[in-house]
Amino acid sequence: MNIDISVLKNDEKAIFTLRTLYQKYGYKQYKMSKFEEYDLYVRNKDFLVSDNIITFTDTDGKLMALKPDVTLSIIKNTDDNKDKVKKVYYNENVYRVSKGTESYKEIMQAGLECIGNIDNSNIYEVIMLACESLKSISKDYVLDISHMGIVSEVIESLGVSAKSEKALIKCIGERNIHEIKNICENEGADSEKLEKLISLYGASEKVIEELKEFVQGESLNQLKEVTDELSKNGYNVRIDFSVINDMSYYNGFVFKGFINGVWTGVLSGGQYDNLMHKMRKKSKAIGFAVYLDMLERMENSDIQTENYETDTNNKYLNIALPKGRLGEKVYKMFKEAGFPCPSIEENNRKLIFENKEVNVRYFWVKPSDVAIYVERGAADIGVAGKDILLEYCPDVYELLDLDVGKCKMAVAAKKDFTDDTQKTLRVATKFTNITKNYYASLGREIDIIHLNGSIEIAPILGLSDVIVDIVETGTTLKENNLDVVETIVPISARLISNKSSFKFKNDLIEKLLDGFKAEDKND
Ligand code: PRP
Repeated sequence: MNIDISVLKNDEKAIFTLRTLYQKYGYKQYKMSKFEEYDLYVRNKDFLVSDNIITFTDTDGKLMALKPDVTLSIIKNTDDNKDKVKKVYYNENVYRVSKGTESYKEIMQAGLECIGNIDNSNIYEVIMLACESLKSISKDYVLDISHMGIVSEVIESLGVSAKSEKALIKCIGERNIHEIKNICENEGADSEKLEKLISLYGASEKVIEELKEFVQGESLNQLKEVTDELSKNGYNVRIDFSVINDMSYYNGFVFKGFINGVWTGVLSGGQYDNLMHKMRKKSKAIGFAVYLDMLERMENSDIQTENYETDTNNKYLNIALPKGRLGEKVYKMFKEAGFPCPSIEENNRKLIFENKEVNVRYFWVKPSDVAIYVERGAADIGVAGKDILLEYCPDVYELLDLDVGKCKMAVAAKKDFTDDTQKTLRVATKFTNITKNYYASLGREIDIIHLNGSIEIAPILGLSDVIVDIVETGTTLKENNLDVVETIVPISARLISNKSSFKFKNDLIEKLLDGFKAEDKND
């Protein structure tokens, strides 16, 4: 029987082709129940994409979960055979909070796992199949590969505290070089190697040579061997150390796949021997998952208005600017960095501006919305305050500290305020998450009162004991008889980038970064 696959939706088409692909390479389908004991996820919480889990009580009183993940169940149920290699694939529904909607969804997921006595050829096969999976969805794909062995080698050589190591790993995932510098400076460590590592991005022939200057060891040979072979066979792979997975589960290769036009990664995988050890298994494992829910809107990711041509060739750099004084200031920085747009300087109420000569488009958006435009790929690049990035934790790269829009996040209170630690502290703020994290780090119990503006009035009217808010000149506090009690964190404007745009518009983004760096030198 011939099946007309043109009637299928993107995700259904993908399942169809992936299944054929995995079977061709000897992977056997793994079928499983929709339920799993909740306890399995509690013990391995950080391995999950999201820690929201739907639970229910089984007929025997056991707490169960609707499966948020497939890998853990496969490992749990696979014999620990160090002499054999077991190859399985799955396409199953999982139940978790979907990236982008923040609500529970039934998500179709496909993937494979290779478990047992795996060697370099198994590793190559799995990463090659990750490329083939992406390629079967779109020719315009890229697989970014990192090696945790190399990242660990560089981080360990710094000799910083465990807390700083954790902070550095977060920065690596954000390509946040300025913060890496700060952390290392505070620890008296030399950040040069780590900065170099995170600045490298590209094909293996180019990156491996540069890596050799400061990385030794078996991990580098392994990375070279596998990526050379993939490139030789025509796969579009790049080395990118910002691909980072939890080191308590993953070791060795980790990778993420992107499709042009989809705002976030659609494939994620790696070697997870550490997870195997945690689950008391002696064998090794590598695998990946394809997030089919991300393919739903694959074709509609560009500007959808009649007045602007679609940008399927990745010609334009779309930049979200924060509306207001800061936006005007940073626009000038973009202009000097080589991306001028004369129409934006005309005083009108338009919100989108374009300069075809230098392939740039600017959008004016509310400052607190810039991060979401960039995260979801409506803009490739944006400028957002560190306050917004800390509050909403968007999944973006933080490429530069622009050193403008400087202020601080602070706790403030009436001049005569003394903290009565016997009582729960009432804190008024717009920045709920920053506030929660700050007081959690102090172990202080608080009640948060969420306000949208004019926060300073809350302690005056007795609504709260203190406020957590932005202080720039200090005038607002002064005129309302309030004082800063504690500074939480300094704030400034950051240049952020959508992760997928960074791959597919890398030349334009690198040109912009070079422009900003040249400006910095001239200052
Ligand atoms: C911010 C902040 C303070 C003020 C501090 O408000 O919430 O109210 O600026 O600045 P200063 O130290 O220079 O006096 P913003 O103007 O952004 O408006 P908002 O009240 O809507 O947050």
